[in-house]
Amino acid sequence: MHNPYSSAKVKSSEITPEEVYLNRREFLKSMGYVGLSGLLLAACAPRGISGSPETDSAGGEIASEVTKTDELGDPVNTFEQITNYNNYYEFTTDKEEVAILAEDFQTDGWKVEVTGLVNKPKTFAIDDLVRQYPQEERIYRLRCVEAWSMVIPWLGFPLKALLDEVEPQSSAKYVKFTSIHNPEQMPGQNSRLFPWPYTEGLRLDEAYNDLAILATGLYGNSLPPQNGSAIRLVVPWKYGFKSIKAIVKIELTEFRPDTLWNLVAPNEYGFFANVNPEVDHPRWSQKSERRIGELGRRETLMFNGYAEQVAHLYEGMDLQRNY
Ligand code: MTE
Repeated sequence: MHNPYSSAKVKSSEITPEEVYLNRREFLKSMGYVGLSGLLLAACAPRGISGSPETDSAGGEIASEVTKTDELGDPVNTFEQITNYNNYYEFTTDKEEVAILAEDFQTDGWKVEVTGLVNKPKTFAIDDLVRQYPQEERIYRLRCVEAWSMVIPWLGFPLKALLDEVEPQSSAKYVKFTSIHNPEQMPGQNSRLFPWPYTEGLRLDEAYNDLAILATGLYGNSLPPQNGSAIRLVVPWKYGFKSIKAIVKIELTEFRPDTLWNLVAPNEYGFFANVNPEVDHPRWSQKSERRIGELGRRETLMFNGYAEQVAHLYEGMDLQRNY
């Protein structure tokens, strides 16, 4: 069986989408700040902020190391980390090259078709979705099945809002997501090792959980290509591979849909794939994880720390099993 994942170290990088970089520069200039270091967070920190301004020797306010945190108090990862260490097999299996290869990925006129067992199937333009549904910031931990993690300040809206709009029929039990298939733009899709396009799925009640969002941005700006632009799923209590990027189709189905990782290695990547420190991956332990940017390891939390919100969805299921 092809080993789909490989591990690599994060390297610091200069790559920053120009638009984001310019926005930040404008903001910083307007605030009279000189350098960029430590200010990115301050530049886009409307909610969930911890920290307080400091003063310089002359008593003037200087740039504070204001850092947003998740609800457990863990600081968000830097924009550079989040956008330069990516899993995106449509481009490459090298995490540190995704940003470069995805730089020119075209998302103009992006549309998402919502179809299947619904009363009101509809194709949505991404711009309409962003206008129609208020974009909320959600700071979530992302725990990859490879045992690394980050804390990411997403912008997006609840998946359930979109599902409500198309009115699922009573026979609908699952939601299938499909990523774009465009080998011309995505060199990795020329590899026959994977059954493209990337697909994923949720049970309908999981999709209706408030934690499940469709993300259209991060760090207060639009979603960089390497993170799944124009729109992606984020389901933070599941291993990261469930959070499918670059979605073009959402389909409600009666039966459990095939997913890319289920097709490639069902014994390693189950359909539910809930973060669970008690169930090891066949090739490594899931008890702990490496938080990108930190030394040492952290203990992995059941459901990635979201048990209160999601444990009820799995009552009666044997959580030791890799479904
Ligand atoms: N979605 C698509 N379409 N293609 C992918 O290769 N990788 C998944 C997930 N979504 C992937 C995907 C995996 S394994 C992880 S860990 C996360 O995206 C990584 O998201 P990030 O790069 O934004 O951190």
